Amino acid sequence: VDVTYKRIVFGTDGSARAASVGELAAQLARSSKAELVIAHIYSKPEDAEAIAAAAVEAAKASGVKPNKIASEVRGGSPAEELVRIASQRDAGLIVISGGRGQQYTLGQVALRLSHATPCDLLIVSERQHDDGVYKRILIATDGSATADRAARKGYDLADGLGASVTMVFVGHPSTGELITKDTIATFAGEVPTEVVLKKGDPAQQILAAAEECSADLIVIGNKGMTGAKRFLTSSVPQKVSEYAPLDVLVCRTIIQAVSEIGPGEGGIIERQGEKLAAFMDPSGELHLMSAKCTHLGCTVAWNPGESTFDCPCHGSRYAPTGEVVNGPAARALPPA
Ligand code: FES
Repeated sequence: VDVTYKRIVFGTDGSARAASVGELAAQLARSSKAELVIAHIYSKPEDAEAIAAAAVEAAKASGVKPNKIASEVRGGSPAEELVRIASQRDAGLIVISGGRGQQYTLGQVALRLSHATPCDLLIVSERQHDDGVYKRILIATDGSATADRAARKGYDLADGLGASVTMVFVGHPSTGELITKDTIATFAGEVPTEVVLKKGDPAQQILAAAEECSADLIVIGNKGMTGAKRFLTSSVPQKVSEYAPLDVLVCRTIIQAVSEIGPGEGGIIERQGEKLAAFMDPSGELHLMSAKCTHLGCTVAWNPGESTFDCPCHGSRYAPTGEVVNGPAARALPPA
């Protein structure tokens, strides 16, 4: 597996359902040799430590090395705290149960997270995960850069798990043929792939395709798709994750290529392992700053709506060239 996760945050509420999701999180951590951060955001402080300790024991029992397990116990809003934990610890994946009717309705938390996650998000359905691994992975693509990154993650996962892939495109069939061919040529390698071209409502058609091929995982970028026209809305992935009866991996890649950043736009890039906030001013000059929030070190993200770099942890906001617009941060993002 090429694109593996270095750190996985697993959110548990201590329920039996969460325990089976934890099993899956542990397997993913083991197969990518990742650190597993077990996070319990409590509603009742008196049980909290015991719940986290039980989840840690379960992870050890599933074969995760004790030095690869960490735990976080906090009160507060589960979605917000999970975003903070993932961001502060620079996690690549959050794993959470998507089932309804949980102790603090994790389904709601999953939904909130799908808007706000700073990294990939795996929403685990209520289906049985007897053998834990995925056998058929549905990758939804519209040919956008976000979809390409999702395709790459999906293929890496399929490759690592020995799964096959169904690639679905919703929109004009001739566009679909070109895009899927291209995506497969770039990312599929040896992974057997079936292509499905659909027309109609993207979210509905993706769910229909998943059912038709008996997929056990949908992989989708966090930006949506509306057929032939790429439309940067997040409503499609959110609908898919809300209604899917199967697991959904929402890929959120905050790292961009500099070539994807146009005049007046910003993004997060990586230089020798360091994350940088990049802004190209209208004259085409590139400004590079550290992407670490000067408050407590979370990674900021570009907010295209406001043209600011926003911190997901406590709401600090920076101008495109790094000056503080909103606290709690007091210092500008230093130039890099
Ligand atoms: S770390 Fe607190 S606002 Fe960024």
